[in-house]
Amino acid sequence: MPRQSITVQSPGRINIIGEHTDYNDGFVLPAAIDKKTVASLHRNGHPSACRITAGNLNETLNFGLNQVKPLAGGWQNYVLGVVHELQKLGAQMQGFDGSFKGDVPIGGGMSSSASLECALAFGLNELFDLGLSKTQLIKAAQLAEHNFVGIKCGIMDQFASMMGQKNRVILLDCRSLEYRYFPLELGDYQLLLLNTNVSHSLASSEYNRRRAECEEGVAVIQKKYPEVAYLRDVSLSMLSDFQNSMPETIYARCRHVVSENQRVLEATQALTAGDIRKLGSLLYQSHHSLQHDYAVSCPELDFLVDQTTGLDFVAGSRMMGGGFGGCTINILEKKYCGQFVDNVAPKYRQRFGYDLTPYFVSIEDGAGVVAQP
Ligand code: GLA
Repeated sequence: MPRQSITVQSPGRINIIGEHTDYNDGFVLPAAIDKKTVASLHRNGHPSACRITAGNLNETLNFGLNQVKPLAGGWQNYVLGVVHELQKLGAQMQGFDGSFKGDVPIGGGMSSSASLECALAFGLNELFDLGLSKTQLIKAAQLAEHNFVGIKCGIMDQFASMMGQKNRVILLDCRSLEYRYFPLELGDYQLLLLNTNVSHSLASSEYNRRRAECEEGVAVIQKKYPEVAYLRDVSLSMLSDFQNSMPETIYARCRHVVSENQRVLEATQALTAGDIRKLGSLLYQSHHSLQHDYAVSCPELDFLVDQTTGLDFVAGSRMMGGGFGGCTINILEKKYCGQFVDNVAPKYRQRFGYDLTPYFVSIEDGAGVVAQP
């Protein structure tokens, strides 16, 4: 008897370090968090009619499995995109109804979109017993975003949402998809996310532009080093050969990616050694590089990072995720967290007119079936 219904969940993610490296075939260090999308799906007996409701918005999408096409915009494209990508993998599905609800802040840089995509991909795979591997589901979720949402994202968010493990961060090689878990043991320190509550509209257009700028850099580098396929293959000393033969902006973009890859690997060494101060200093370096070389920060994020400088109890701080808004990720001594937030929030409000939302996230498991009572 085929399964008739299922409830699944898939979380948002943080990223300790390794920003804008994933689509350059590089390294990232994300983890799944305690904020997630929960999706309930059931077969409705129809061969192709589907109906799915976004619980947070109270909006419903009706569509047929035989005519899945992108719409003008909105959450619907995440759903349609996932269904379409699963179909491209040969998935035979029948009509289903469902709903989903989440608490991953939208535009918060915690990847609410990957959380939704992965919940759907994972849920449909279970409901219809499609037999797809987690890697196939991750790639389908990523391609949904490319082909239906229009953002040429890397694989980090979907990978973390699907593969996360409690209290562990994932060192992912985005080229081979080899991965290794590292326990996140911060001792007297803890993670604190600070949500700027802004999400600048530049985010998607600039994201795709950065990707193109990296490709432009690679094309120049390939003239001398034909073996280079992505910035992953480039070292800082190789890159320095091109300082005068590349537009300055492109050079800066490449320098961010190449140095950030290096920082990810150093961060795993710092984690293994329990050297939280070193880890924190890498976060600051990452922010500096994202702000100046990659130019994906914004005044709100920079303000929050600046507020931490000179504070002994803060090990590190940086913008997290794609940029142009969302959260900073901070590593600070536990006992000072409350006082720090109380001090910064009014200053932030006074400067920008927005509330600052702190999140004391915990690291949790990735996608899974939710036990039904
Ligand atoms: C977004 C994308 C990811 C990654 C980050 C930046 O979250 O979805 O693939 O590129 O930005 O590191």
